[in-house]
Amino acid sequence: MFLAEECDRNRHMTIKTKEEIQLMAKVGKLAARCLEHTGKFVRPGITTDELDKIAHDFTLSHGAKPAPLGYKGYPKSICTSVNHVICHGVPGAEVLKEGDIVNVDVTCLLDGFHGDTSATFYVGEVSENARKITEAAKKAMEKGIEAITPFGTTGDIGFAINKFATKSGFYVVEEIGGHGIGRGFHEDPFVPSFGKKGRGDRLLPGGTITVEPMLNETDAEMIEFAIPNSKIFWYITSDKCLSAQFEHTVLITENGPEILTVP
Ligand code: MF3
Ligand code: CO
Ligand code: CO
Repeated sequence: MFLAEECDRNRHMTIKTKEEIQLMAKVGKLAARCLEHTGKFVRPGITTDELDKIAHDFTLSHGAKPAPLGYKGYPKSICTSVNHVICHGVPGAEVLKEGDIVNVDVTCLLDGFHGDTSATFYVGEVSENARKITEAAKKAMEKGIEAITPFGTTGDIGFAINKFATKSGFYVVEEIGGHGIGRGFHEDPFVPSFGKKGRGDRLLPGGTITVEPMLNETDAEMIEFAIPNSKIFWYITSDKCLSAQFEHTVLITENGPEILTVP
């Protein structure tokens, strides 16, 4: 996530050297493997705290750190956002039940660099509505990534995401989106899930960003909740409709996008 209002000062992405790109690829791969590993445990009866511990232990056992833990006071190692939770759901005693959908968002920190990826998982058998929004969120992310071109703009990404989401009958979250990533967890620029082609910030070869659209079933506004002792908020849809999200960390190359968070 990146709040649109937090990033109107320095809109330039940091360009990574060849060596830095190798480190980004290494941490990206680890984050993807951590997400895949943790996702295997998603089933009715497991608590989100148990998922947090699984991801936490996996990350440490591979010599990395879970970036969320202690980030702006955030208390856990991953985010787990169930059903109508849009993002930054905090793992706890909640027991996942048949029919839920849960977004698991993993960020690893290794050798000074961040890899950030998330996926929405089905808890047992889910409704057709739940499947539809989850598949649409995944495809919207893919469309956004495919829209990346060297010297294109963040608006190209947002336009492609929103076009697909709308066509599928869903609504994108505008206030929160993707971000530059590297030595910093959240770097400039803001990567919106809506926008106009050719608008926004320039996509430069050697830059690394996340593409992470959140799709909602309705256009109801979102409600934010404070996390105690933290500057991070978690968000729900005000009418409790479903929300789904996927996220990849992507390198912009002279030939187009290269997804770094692949196992
Ligand atoms: N991983 C989230 C993102 O995609 C950020 C989580 S920040 C936390 O940007 F503090 F909530 F963990
Ligand atoms: Co992110
Ligand atoms: Co994330």
